[in-house]
Amino acid sequence: MGKIREPNKGKKIIGIGSRRIVYDLGNGNVKKVAKTKYGVLSNRREIVTYRSSAPSVRKHLAKIIESGDEYKWITMIRYNREFPKTKEYHQKLYRLWGKFRKNGITPYEILTRQGRPNYQNMRLKQNGEIVVIDYGNFRFRGKKG
Ligand SMILES: Nc1ncnc2c1ncn2[C@@H]1O[C@H](COP(=O)(O)OP(=O)(O)OP(=O)(O)O)[C@@H](O)[C@H]1O
Ligand SMILES: [Mg+2]
Repeated sequence: MGKIREPNKGKKIIGIGSRRIVYDLGNGNVKKVAKTKYGVLSNRREIVTYRSSAPSVRKHLAKIIESGDEYKWITMIRYNREFPKTKEYHQKLYRLWGKFRKNGITPYEILTRQGRPNYQNMRLKQNGEIVVIDYGNFRFRGKKG
């Protein structure tokens, strides 16, 4: 997939995950470019999850702007506020986990196996709400009842 990196030459890399390279576009948005086929699947999963979720949970998903090259890349809003390492936010995250579940989404990777927050995958919005910036592994099964 080497050739798909060329158009992003000169752009600042702000994150490297196992599946995607993340560039700062300098306009308030980031571009997530797939490194592997799993990156493409993560991009697609984020788009499908974002589109199918109810507004009450969608507001906790990093907003997607556009995608291209058959999901090789997506752009989303850049969120800078770090997730606080406090008990209060830990509890808020547990409640959010339950809210996702109630709305038919299994939010893999926001908590570690030990039940601790996966800090690199979350940020805060300007209004203090939790926003998940990596939901490429979420499972959507539809709302119950
Ligand atoms: N919307 C965003 N705003 C700010 N930084 C971001 C955003 N999206 C991603 N990043 C940065 O890029 C990193 C990698 O992104 P992401 O977690 O989506 O990639 P990944 O390949 O799915 O990662 P993983 O290694 O968890 O599988 C994040 O940990 C974060 O530092
Ligand atoms: Mg990640």
